[in-house]
Amino acid sequence: MKHRNEIVLAIEDLTVSFDGFRAVDGLNLYVERDELRAVIGPNGAGKTTVLDLICGKTKATAGSIQFKGIELTTMPEHKIVQAGVGRKFQNPSIYENLTVFENLEISYPRGRGVIGSLMFERTSDVNDRIHEVLEEIFLVDHPNTQAGLLSHGQKQWLEIGMLIIQSPQLLLLDEPVAGMSVSEREKTAELLNRISNGRSVIVIEHDMEFVKRIADNVTVLHQGKLLAEGSMESVQGNPKVIEVYLGH
Ligand SMILES: Nc1ncnc2c1ncn2[C@@H]1O[C@H](COP(=O)(O)OP(=O)(O)O)[C@@H](O)[C@H]1O
Ligand SMILES: [Mg+2]
Repeated sequence: MKHRNEIVLAIEDLTVSFDGFRAVDGLNLYVERDELRAVIGPNGAGKTTVLDLICGKTKATAGSIQFKGIELTTMPEHKIVQAGVGRKFQNPSIYENLTVFENLEISYPRGRGVIGSLMFERTSDVNDRIHEVLEEIFLVDHPNTQAGLLSHGQKQWLEIGMLIIQSPQLLLLDEPVAGMSVSEREKTAELLNRISNGRSVIVIEHDMEFVKRIADNVTVLHQGKLLAEGSMESVQGNPKVIEVYLGH
């Protein structure tokens, strides 16, 4: 793998056991700034658990996760968010009863909870930033649409927008194009390629065509361990990867 940029995330010997079962087992993973890393592998490989460990939702049994030199394994979840890590779960968690604009406004870093941030004056700084994000996530024509009325794909974009408005240095996305139409997938690829500039993004994904379009490097997990890593081409041609994953 080419190493050109600073390492933003360094995961070493990371292990988590659930009642003796090692869902993640001695994993090493390094992600650079400006890198979009795809994580693939069969169901149960430990992909989601790795993201849970990075964002502090699950505590490691052993090993370390260093983000810009800060150890995350001993930090509470909200501190990890403050340190600059944004996490998107598989199902969009947006406020369905609020408008698109209001969802972004609530997520703007100075907001403190739903009521507090809605009572804030809409300063032009906040407005400008929200409009920038609306453009980025293809929702510039829908600021006043109730979020619950958006298509599934638009909801996923809105949630990505709610993360990027916080300017995270590391963005973690779990299967962002699941359930999306072909054209929504194409736009999401464009979005992810754009938002990986100036930050690092880790995307778990099963759609290999999609991975090919976005990933700088691909990590393949199997039974909690690193099975292969490198360019999409090298991973696709790897007999071990074909045997446990791509061949099925
Ligand atoms: N909180 C938990 N308690 C017990 N087992 C878990 C927990 N979270 C995940 N697992 C198990 O760890 C394995 C990896 O799960 P997961 O990370 O969700 O896989 P993937 O996202 O690659 O499909 C699975 O066997 C799953 O059942
Ligand atoms: Mg998963």
